[in-house]
Amino acid sequence: MNNKLQRLRELHAEAFEGGGEKRIAKQHEKGKLTARERIHFLLDEGSFEEIGMFVTHRTTDFGMDRQKILGDGVITGYGSIHGRLVYVFAQDFTVFGGSLSETHAEKICKIMDMAMKVGAPLIGLNDSGGARIQEGVSSLGGYADIFYRNVRASGVIPQISAVMGPCAGGAVYSPAITDFILMVEDTSYMFVTGPNVVKTVTNEEVTSEALGGAMTHASKSGVTHLTAPNDIECLAMIRQLLSYMPQNCEEKPADLAYTIEEELRPELGGLIPDNPNQPYDMRGVITGIMDELSFMEIHPLYADNLVVGFARLGGKSVGIVANQPMSLAGVLDVDSSKKGARFVRFCDSFNIPLLVLVDVPGFLPGTDQEWNAIITNGAKLLYAFSEATVPRITLITRKAY
Ligand code: HXC
Repeated sequence: MNNKLQRLRELHAEAFEGGGEKRIAKQHEKGKLTARERIHFLLDEGSFEEIGMFVTHRTTDFGMDRQKILGDGVITGYGSIHGRLVYVFAQDFTVFGGSLSETHAEKICKIMDMAMKVGAPLIGLNDSGGARIQEGVSSLGGYADIFYRNVRASGVIPQISAVMGPCAGGAVYSPAITDFILMVEDTSYMFVTGPNVVKTVTNEEVTSEALGGAMTHASKSGVTHLTAPNDIECLAMIRQLLSYMPQNCEEKPADLAYTIEEELRPELGGLIPDNPNQPYDMRGVITGIMDELSFMEIHPLYADNLVVGFARLGGKSVGIVANQPMSLAGVLDVDSSKKGARFVRFCDSFNIPLLVLVDVPGFLPGTDQEWNAIITNGAKLLYAFSEATVPRITLITRKAY
């Protein structure tokens, strides 16, 4: 019996070594935490229960039968955030570059199935070189299994993805199907094909950062919803983001305690200019109405003519959609329509009431907009609002043309 316990302890220690000291040091040199450290900062202290710690891959080609690392490049399990159950996977870049093998995918699928079964959010911490090259098609099959589950879970449980290192090839598509993507500045990037392939195919010269860095996806493509300066802040943002959401589509978000303010907020009085053409910052209206310090803006750098985000009103979670007169006079265009539609549909799926602040001169005219399908994309916003069954309050602050 003692021998068996001793062996178990040895296996635990081996699994904790991941890809070994050198690779862990390299990860730290880049300013990145290891997968285990990330889980430690994400979850409530001591709440993590790991599943599949001793799993290894089944490949024998390319000498892989001599290279087996316990856990196979992904740490999976469950724990709590602010006392609420969540399921989590964290890819370990120190093990085969966090690349996805058949067994690595099976581990992720297992916790996705568990999250769906009990109705709890799923959080993925991605740091992966994509499909494990040595496995070929088995690895690609693993991606298909994950995508399928992402789609089945969409609108049923909240799914949050953090991209905390390279995410190339298939590794970008699971995050893209989830509800929210966060990226870490300077250490993460996402692209379907990297700079070398781009150079070969289109002859464009571009760096990884310019092609798919955090700022590119936060401001140009809108692929990422939020960026953080480092791993720890990214994980703290996930904790905050989750606080506005329920466990699943059958539940309501938890209420927070609040105190009723005796005084009206004087700052609201002077916010909106008399001149209808003069801009003002709609964020001031939002923070003036909502509970103090409760506003978390989503997609702040993308399509900033529309502000969307979560806040609390009387302790209750609310989704906010607001025209922003400070940018393009708050006009609606292709990007802001897509941004708004996606956010409204999320809130509707998860029983989060909407506050809509309107100050809009209408849709943006022009060939650029028409040729980029303002008709189809504008319709997405109309569809999302028409489809929504959550309570909705609309406040026209100045004009609605
Ligand atoms: C196996 C991989 C790997 C992969 C990295 N590694 N990617 N092993 N399969 N896909 C290993 C490396 O061999 C190395 O092992 C370790 O991880 C660290 O990699 P480095 O290259 O040293 O790190 P870095 O310089 O930071 O570069 C990271 C990287 C690069 C940009 C991700 O490794 C890279 O380009 N990898 C290949 C990306 C790729 O082509 N993926 C397949 C996409 S196809 P050692 O032992 O030296 O530590 C795909 C199709 C999906 O995903 C389709 C779905 C629909």
